[in-house]
Amino acid sequence: MLSQLQISHVRNLQQVRLQGLKKVNVFFGPNGSGKTSVLESIHLLGMARSFRGTSVKSLITHNTPSCTVYGVTSRKAAGEAGVYSAAGMPMGVQRSRSGEAQIKIGGKPVRTVAELAAQLPLQVITAESFSLLTGPPGGRRQYLDWGVFHVEQRFFGQWQRFQRCLKQRNNLLRRGKISDQELVVWTRDLTQTGEAINEYRKDYFAILSPRFKEIMARLAPSLDRLELRYQQGWDRELTYSEALQQGYSADTEQGYTHSGPQRADVRVMSGGHLAADTLSRGQQKLVVCGLKLAQGQLMAQLGNRGKCTYLIDDLPSELDHEHSLLVCELLESMDVQVFVTCIAQEEIRSVWPKTSEITMFHVEHGNVQRHPASDV
Ligand SMILES: Nc1ncnc2c1ncn2[C@@H]1O[C@H](COP(=O)(O)OP(=O)(O)OP(=O)(O)O)[C@@H](O)[C@H]1O
Ligand SMILES: [Mg+2]
Repeated sequence: MLSQLQISHVRNLQQVRLQGLKKVNVFFGPNGSGKTSVLESIHLLGMARSFRGTSVKSLITHNTPSCTVYGVTSRKAAGEAGVYSAAGMPMGVQRSRSGEAQIKIGGKPVRTVAELAAQLPLQVITAESFSLLTGPPGGRRQYLDWGVFHVEQRFFGQWQRFQRCLKQRNNLLRRGKISDQELVVWTRDLTQTGEAINEYRKDYFAILSPRFKEIMARLAPSLDRLELRYQQGWDRELTYSEALQQGYSADTEQGYTHSGPQRADVRVMSGGHLAADTLSRGQQKLVVCGLKLAQGQLMAQLGNRGKCTYLIDDLPSELDHEHSLLVCELLESMDVQVFVTCIAQEEIRSVWPKTSEITMFHVEHGNVQRHPASDV
């Protein structure tokens, strides 16, 4: 759980300091006040980049050289005789206009974003999240791999090796200089790592898919036969090695590797049709919420990294009152930390379960103030 946050020069947030963050943190205020920028800042802390798909430069306040986000995460750690104590871990990310990133965890520099992501696992839901369904497969692979990464420690190493092999093999194929001997070496490594990635993904998918169905049965019971289908990126009747052999001439002719985990997809189906083609915008948002809640539940249950934090931009958009209530109830039952934005505070107060404590922050012209009535 993120207990403290300090933001410097992220968009219109010049200096923002938030302490004593709670489980449910709501940021409300008018358009352009800086609400989404607060969520972007937390994303910067966990992923070293924005979730808006914009360049790092656009994130840095105009006419300043860099932006910085510093935070403290506390996680319940097992102490002596099984007593649990909250240990605080400081972490910080600085990005400069030149693209340089400086990342520190516990005061020590770290080199990979994976270490940040392990320290502060994030799930993001925004008004654009429907693109997980309607957009290209890359987004759905990332979605799937987020889950595998957080529950299977060995996945990331294999994934890195696979990416290296694929790059090398494609470089050679593109230059048309591939010798049989080189091809054998790269194909062997690609096969091994590709098969391993596929196995991890399949194992994770086998638990994700029923969890997603359970959640959707609560969120949208009327939606017709919702299901997920995993496509591994090559003919499922073949081993990866066989698929690479079969694709050899196409690969050499066109200069890239046609099959493999880099072509995998998770298809979301409703009543036998692609959800992206048939569901309404609100239904799509619900499905995306279901996908992301399912991952959060699995991580809490199976991962050894605790729970993930949800960043939800404009929660009420596209969702009616009934469905907003259901999403909030599920989040509340998961006992996860949530950062959520809305225009007027009533929008969240009216849908969040009354029993829980909500901390409200009013955002205006880049200033973030704890709202006096927030702890009522
Ligand atoms: N690089 C930048 N430097 C300074 N200000 C910026 C920069 N990028 C964006 N802004 C401004 O920061 C403000 C905050 O934007 P943000 O998207 O966080 O607002 P918001 O509160 O989420 O608004 P909405 O309700 O419309 O979603 C906007 O007024 C925007 O014009
Ligand atoms: Mg916004």
